[in-house]
Amino acid sequence: METAIPSPLKAEHDELHQELVKATKEPGKVGEAARAVAEVLHPHFVKEEEYALPPLGILKVLAEGKPVSDTEKVIEMTERLKSELPRMLEEHEAIVAELEKLAEVACEENKPEYARFAEKLILHARTEEDVLYPASIVLGEYIKSKQPRIPVRGRARQRRGGQFI
Ligand SMILES: [Fe+2]
Ligand SMILES: [Fe+2]
Repeated sequence: METAIPSPLKAEHDELHQELVKATKEPGKVGEAARAVAEVLHPHFVKEEEYALPPLGILKVLAEGKPVSDTEKVIEMTERLKSELPRMLEEHEAIVAELEKLAEVACEENKPEYARFAEKLILHARTEEDVLYPASIVLGEYIKSKQPRIPVRGRARQRRGGQFI
């Protein structure tokens, strides 16, 4: 429960997704550019919702000094984010490049709402790069640092017997 994406972030993702779907249905260059955005954005959003953003769901609980139950899951997700971060950032570059094209054609076709949408989505990507991804990674490191250290032999026994001696 705690490892769910914080609801404002989920709402933001859903809103961006809905606006993009609307743009893809536009005729002409705007629709074409929006469909190109959707192609690179969709798999990226799926990965974010799978492992990049859910760890942030425990931030509030931790700040309140309450115990966190799902620590193993948080560590697993944040380790994955850490190892896949370069790829995630490359995807942002590709998404931003397509969004810049969308903003350009939206201005040409006098549809400023889609240019604003493109700016909003670019800002979303920057927020993730500068705040959300680092926060998620630091959170995983923090959780790991708070775990009791188990000696290597103890770990093996724990796995074999299912009980820590
Ligand atoms: Fe996102
Ligand atoms: Fe992203």
